[in-house]
Amino acid sequence: MSWGWQAVDDYIAHHLIGADDALAAALANNEKQGLPPIDVSAAQGKMLFLLAQMAGARRVLEVGTLGGYSTIWLARALPEDGRLVTLELEAHHAAVARENLERAGVSAKVDIRTGPAADSLAAMDVGAPFDFVFIDADKQSNALYVAEAIRLGRSGTTIIVDNVVREGGVLDADSADERIIGTRALFDMMEADPGLDATAVQTVGAKGWDGFVLARVL
Ligand code: SAH
Ligand code: DHB
Ligand code: MG
Repeated sequence: MSWGWQAVDDYIAHHLIGADDALAAALANNEKQGLPPIDVSAAQGKMLFLLAQMAGARRVLEVGTLGGYSTIWLARALPEDGRLVTLELEAHHAAVARENLERAGVSAKVDIRTGPAADSLAAMDVGAPFDFVFIDADKQSNALYVAEAIRLGRSGTTIIVDNVVREGGVLDADSADERIIGTRALFDMMEADPGLDATAVQTVGAKGWDGFVLARVL
């Protein structure tokens, strides 16, 4: 990683984010309980918060909770009666997230569903649509998750997908890494799907060289 990426993220956080006890406690608790440090960065978390507010989101879906760091950011973007459903495979991750969300004072807005996200999504009926969807779980399922986000969304729903660049790994058409194969399948799916208007933006920072897909359901 370039030496400057972390330093600039620190500069951004110092000026625009500031100290945040609940988020710091969540990261410390994640580490103490053995969760991998693969949460979004502070600058990225605030970006998700701002995007959800810009979208006027009242109903948010997240795929991939981990310890709830990104969940806290997104839940804070919601109005009082807003709701967030977050899907997590690992019961231990979900348990840590529950503690972190409680400490952050957002647990009343958040419904954590444990199990494979594909099963949780398949069990969800089209009802009140999600306004904003953040996808950040097993990368091999990204195309499925975007298809489910379209099914459970509405015209204008925002879809964000994390980790779609992987230090340029997305370019490797011969990769045996199922995460790269899954990300490439996502790009193929978005290219073919007329129900979505999308771009992807590369990022550098505390989390290295990666990127987000930003999409809007037509
Ligand atoms: N969004 C979090 C980070 C998520 S890390 C944040 O930024 O704070 C990815 C998470 O997806 C991990 O907790 C992992 O257990 C979970 N995951 C992996 N495969 C999954 C699946 N099939 N269904 C649901 N969650 C899954
Ligand atoms: C990994 C997953 C993530 O969601 C992320 O942001 C970084 C890394 C991983 O599985 O390695
Ligand atoms: Mg991620």
